[in-house]
Amino acid sequence: MLRNCEKAKISHIRFWCQMLAVLRACTLGLVLPQGPPRTTMHRAALSKMAADADPATRVYSLADQVARFERAKAEKNERFLNIDSVFDGSYLKGKRVLLTGGNQGLGLAIATELTKQGAETIVVGRRTSPELDALGGKVITGVDVTDSASVNGKMLKEVGGPVDIVINNAGYFWEEHETLDNLNFEEQMKQINICALGPLRVSSALHKAGLVKGSIIVISSQAGSCEWRFTQNPEGGDYGHHMSRAACNIMAVLLSQELKAAGIPVVMLHPGFNRTGMTAKYSEIWDKEGAVDPSVGAKRVLHEIGQVTMEKSGSFINCEDGLQIPW
Ligand SMILES: NC(=O)c1ccc[n+]([C@@H]2O[C@H](COP(=O)([O-])OP(=O)(O)OC[C@H]3O[C@@H](n4cnc5c(N)ncnc54)[C@H](OP(=O)(O)O)[C@@H]3O)[C@@H](O)[C@H]2O)c1
Repeated sequence: MLRNCEKAKISHIRFWCQMLAVLRACTLGLVLPQGPPRTTMHRAALSKMAADADPATRVYSLADQVARFERAKAEKNERFLNIDSVFDGSYLKGKRVLLTGGNQGLGLAIATELTKQGAETIVVGRRTSPELDALGGKVITGVDVTDSASVNGKMLKEVGGPVDIVINNAGYFWEEHETLDNLNFEEQMKQINICALGPLRVSSALHKAGLVKGSIIVISSQAGSCEWRFTQNPEGGDYGHHMSRAACNIMAVLLSQELKAAGIPVVMLHPGFNRTGMTAKYSEIWDKEGAVDPSVGAKRVLHEIGQVTMEKSGSFINCEDGLQIPW
């Protein structure tokens, strides 16, 4: 007969054996026989990787935008807070860069920086603007990214030769906050058409015409991360826009797979929070959440584009900190 203290010892050992097995299962990504469901576990693991105390080993960016900005300030993260400390746009000199949606906002700022760095810009969109015209680059107007005829027709006819970098920047976010009370399927289709099919239309047309020499960049949004909805949309909503970016991301991943053999990298970039017409509806949180002038956003984007390699193809990166965003 075992004495009480021996029994206690055995149950203690059993407990720790079970804990070890659980830990092993967690490391292997297995489902716990009992305990939290996999989604909760997965989320906890991602949060842990994002909250890694050592910035050098961090993989994922933080979902909480306020906490992300606060952490950058606490760590005096120059990469995040002062892009000029790392940005070197000299790689752009003489490069032919095709950019969609460059007549305003972030696109205009990217076109401005490209021009400053000596790139040859070809801006494609529905219309131009006096600011864009003043840059003196090539502007192809009358091209709506939802219209295959103008993309395959006017754009290809006027692009005038191969391009080194394609930046799919054109995007659209319906003004209203969309909930079950005001679902707008027409707006949802429009957002999906512009934000997900748009970059595919433009990129595939250029590729099939043999005009892509380098990389394809898709300016996406953190809004496309399903994982981050648990933090950023605690009450849901914004169906059309966020679905459009999730669709955009899966499109870009598939494109990256198909273009691997051709040696063309495809990378998705969240450009950070920029003070543009699109986000004016959030202007009351611009300061708190670290929204930047689009000229800063443009350098962040171009800094990440400068880091693109085939190894990075298919990844989804936050241009604020250079870290990945989970799907
Ligand atoms: N601002 C941010 O904080 C933020 C955050 C995450 C992601 N983004 C993404 O970054 C990109 C630029 O955003 P932004 O803030 O600069 O927005 P913006 O000021 O609203 O500019 C959007 C651009 O897209 C063009 N566009 C829209 N629909 C088009 C269509 N059907 N065909 C061709 N061009 C079209 C617009 O041209 P028109 O003049 O013809 O409308 C404009 O040039 C977007 O893809 C956006 O989703 C922005």
